[in-house]
Amino acid sequence: MTTTHRYPVAIIGSGNIGTDLMIKILRSDGPLEVVAMVGIDPSSDGLARATRLGVATTAEGVDGLLAMDEFADVRLVFDATSAGAHRANWSTLKPTGVRVLDLTPASIGPFCVPVVNLDEHLDAPNLNMVTCGGQATVPIAAAVGAVAPVSYAEIISSISSKSAGPGTRANIDEFTETTAAALRDVGGAQRAKAVMILNPADPPILMRNTVYCLVDGDTEHTAIEASITDMVERVNAYVPGYRLKQRVQFETFTAENPLYIPETGKFSGTRVTTMLEVTGAAHYLPAYAGNLDIMTSAAKATAERIAVHAAQTTGATR
Ligand SMILES: NC(=O)c1ccc[n+]([C@@H]2O[C@H](COP(=O)([O-])OP(=O)(O)OC[C@H]3O[C@@H](n4cnc5c(N)ncnc54)[C@H](O)[C@@H]3O)[C@@H](O)[C@H]2O)c1
Repeated sequence: MTTTHRYPVAIIGSGNIGTDLMIKILRSDGPLEVVAMVGIDPSSDGLARATRLGVATTAEGVDGLLAMDEFADVRLVFDATSAGAHRANWSTLKPTGVRVLDLTPASIGPFCVPVVNLDEHLDAPNLNMVTCGGQATVPIAAAVGAVAPVSYAEIISSISSKSAGPGTRANIDEFTETTAAALRDVGGAQRAKAVMILNPADPPILMRNTVYCLVDGDTEHTAIEASITDMVERVNAYVPGYRLKQRVQFETFTAENPLYIPETGKFSGTRVTTMLEVTGAAHYLPAYAGNLDIMTSAAKATAERIAVHAAQTTGATR
């Protein structure tokens, strides 16, 4: 996207996600312009890279950001720290009126999964980007739900241990809770569960996601498969490494041969299984870390849409 207006942004959190996001924005020709990179570790690789790439930095956290000359121009702040740090950052940023896009699973603002609900929250002061697993799997629950109600969705996201920084490791519980909530609130599933696996294999594995959706009856398989493949293409438009690993699978369970689910008991109907793989663009970590890309690409696409919306509505004000 080439635009004439600029939309200055800052990134808090100079770790895996924040650094990948910075590089993605710097390499794009969209409206976003990274004017500040904020951390708390003066020796972090992310702050050093920012300096080399000509981005102003501070290692004094959010207070350091507010003290920078560049902050006067900033229209939107990405927070890529951790859920706990985001709560504190938000209490400092909220009174300034700057827009905040939260890449941690803190769940303060409404959930945003661009391909499903981007246009619903363009004016939200704090918008939450769910989790990497949520960005990968909520669209699939929504795609199945567009054909038949999903009574239960369960997802398993596997990411390489090397791609999970301390911020991610501190947020495993938040990952499971926030992803499950987004599968319900945005994906439309009546009940949901999320599981994350940090896989220590070396060489590291690509990000993989398995999505199980239960639907009543022996619903039309062709329509569900078509809805899923269409959704995968739409996500692929902003996350190029996102793809179906194999064809969608269907299993039918009858009353005589039910599926037993510990929380809810016997289920008869159809289990739809979708297996996804996400290859990264290797902007920061190597291509195995598709989990960085699915989050940073979704956040970048969301911020670009907000920038265009802001230009169309309020002009240059925050
Ligand atoms: N790694 C992933 O695959 C992934 C994907 C999607 C979302 N996330 C989420 O993104 C967040 C960051 O994950 P990560 O893997 O990049 O972790 P990380 O530890 O690599 O990065 C976090 C960075 O934030 C900095 N930081 C911590 N507190 C801060 C504060 N108060 N002010 C400024 N900087 C601060 C740390 O020094 C570190 O550089 C986590 O909430 C995680 O759940 C991670």
